Amino acid sequence: MTLIAQITDMHIRPSGKKAYGVVDTEAMLRAAVASIAAQPRQPNLVVASGDLTDCGLVEEYELLHDILKPLAMPVYLLPGNHDRRENMRLVFGDQGYLPMNGEHLHYTVEDQALRIIALDTVVAGKGHGEMDTPRLAWLRARLDEQPDRPTIIFMHHPPFPTGLQHMDSINCRNAPAMAELLRGRANVERVACGHHHRSIQIRWAGTIGSVAPSVAHQVVLDLQPHDDATFNMEPPGYHLHLWQPDAGLITHTAFIGHFAGPYPFLLDPDYPAFKDKDAAPVSHAAAAAAAQKSR
Ligand SMILES: [Fe+2]
Ligand SMILES: [Fe+2]
Repeated sequence: MTLIAQITDMHIRPSGKKAYGVVDTEAMLRAAVASIAAQPRQPNLVVASGDLTDCGLVEEYELLHDILKPLAMPVYLLPGNHDRRENMRLVFGDQGYLPMNGEHLHYTVEDQALRIIALDTVVAGKGHGEMDTPRLAWLRARLDEQPDRPTIIFMHHPPFPTGLQHMDSINCRNAPAMAELLRGRANVERVACGHHHRSIQIRWAGTIGSVAPSVAHQVVLDLQPHDDATFNMEPPGYHLHLWQPDAGLITHTAFIGHFAGPYPFLLDPDYPAFKDKDAAPVSHAAAAAAAQKSR
């Protein structure tokens, strides 16, 4: 069993500054961290899939470092188009998993039942990402190392379309070559991305592509073709990826916030399976008692 919390697109600014003049991304990430720490089943690890900061400033990474401190499990970071590799290395390089040499911040995590491949898709100074020849070669080599082991690939820019035209224009380029590389590899459970600030799923390259919602602002859901991206403050969230040997990879969306409940499932006597103990998800006895009381 492996449980991964995928947080993404935190867009941290220096303390006291809001992203785009609107979003208190520090407070929102602190709320996400509290939500993960309160999960009844604690994730084995957290993966943050890019746009960790808004501008890639050292000050922003230092604040990010501070915000993530309450998490007891390891946290793995990937860059997005708003990040700067050199500053990520400066602040997080001592954690041991980021390569300190070479251009890209690729790595694998090998100590879980589910293998993790983290891919750096960033093209410095650009909004889009790319799987160019060196990156494809690195990915092929990693996949060839352990062709039978269940694997999840994390990358910031989706290599698949999402129907959000303005966001798809800054997707991961050279995606057909990556699709060709993945096709036929049944051990690749998922290609899990960020960048689009919404929860999205697609069948792609013989596996499943997914995008996690942002822990901060969301991209407006508008599937009409147009060029302008706008955001709103829909409920933020993150993905919980649960890998079980008998079931494969199961993904839940966790919303961050305070919501009414929990309430018990007190079954109404008119419920067709009222007398079927096996059909009651919580407490048949409690429902029967409540029904008795209401008579
Ligand atoms: Fe983002
Ligand atoms: Fe992005």
